[in-house]
Amino acid sequence: MLGFSYVVNWRALDFPVPWDRVFGWSGPIVVEIGFGNGDFLVETAPRRPGTRFVGIELSRVSVQKAAKRLRALRIRNVRLIHWDARPALQHLFAPGSIAEVHSYFPDPWPKKRHEKRRLFSVEFCQLVASRLRQGGRVILYTDDPEYFAWVSQNFRESGVFRVSAGPAERVPDTKYAQKWLRQGKLVYALEAWKTREPEQSFPIIKRLKEMPNVLLRCQDEDFLVKFVQQFQALEILGGVDIRIPRVYLAPDRRSAVFETFLREKGIQQRFFLEVKRLGQRVVVKVHDAFDVVATPGVKMAVTALADALVRKGCQRVYSTTGT
Ligand SMILES: C[S@@+](CC[C@H](N)C(=O)[O-])C[C@H]1O[C@@H](n2cnc3c(N)ncnc32)[C@H](O)[C@@H]1O
Repeated sequence: MLGFSYVVNWRALDFPVPWDRVFGWSGPIVVEIGFGNGDFLVETAPRRPGTRFVGIELSRVSVQKAAKRLRALRIRNVRLIHWDARPALQHLFAPGSIAEVHSYFPDPWPKKRHEKRRLFSVEFCQLVASRLRQGGRVILYTDDPEYFAWVSQNFRESGVFRVSAGPAERVPDTKYAQKWLRQGKLVYALEAWKTREPEQSFPIIKRLKEMPNVLLRCQDEDFLVKFVQQFQALEILGGVDIRIPRVYLAPDRRSAVFETFLREKGIQQRFFLEVKRLGQRVVVKVHDAFDVVATPGVKMAVTALADALVRKGCQRVYSTTGT
């Protein structure tokens, strides 16, 4: 047993993540975005034992496979985050805390209509700069000439990097690098050094200390069935976007779950809110089956659903503030 888990349970930790506590020691942090099967981490981390590597990856399967490889090799200076790199960089890392950001063959999304899915927009470049320490740098490789032109322009346009970009002299040995080289493709490299702080600040979201919930009293025995039958989608748009489009009544008709989409400060969450009847008392809360980050937006969603029930005749008994 190594005594730690490679996959960081970041939802249970403070934001930004206390990396000194997670690793048990301090040292420079290198972040890899989209590590795939973990080739770069497995190859590089043992050669830089005084550096802490944090891999961020969207694919759960990739995270599990990389963790297995790291465990088998007993590599101690790597941790993995299963989340989208955009919110992960903003909320899990303090400003100025990262030495290097690496990205090998980020998805190029070549179709015009998919362009907005690409990472490394001008705004994302500025977010990266805000998390890099002074003199920190980005290293990015791609096989796609059009993506390479796009990403190079964005780093330059962001106004916070000095950029060097061109055909790669040496190509990192990752799965995708091997694939493109086998096909005889040219690989491009971009290196960008942070020169100054971006004007835009990327604040870290304030977490609630506990999941918010609301307790109501509803006299009518059938109120929940009626509420579900008459339910109309709830939508609140503004600084925080909340959409509650659908509801499902449980077979015993004592509870209902409401599908909820939340977007705030770059964080998107999908979960179910639950309305559960316990006699005349009714609780409105986040369904236990979901890993949800307790944010002010979650509290707004719980409150919005409770308010809809109050409009149908229930009375509020208490609300937890979550703070
Ligand atoms: C083309 S693969 C490259 C994998 C690996 N770096 C290599 O060179 O073999 C791109 C990887 O980026 C991951 N990815 C895509 N968008 C992401 C995001 N927003 N945050 C984190 N990872 C992402 C994908 O799941 C995929 O594993």
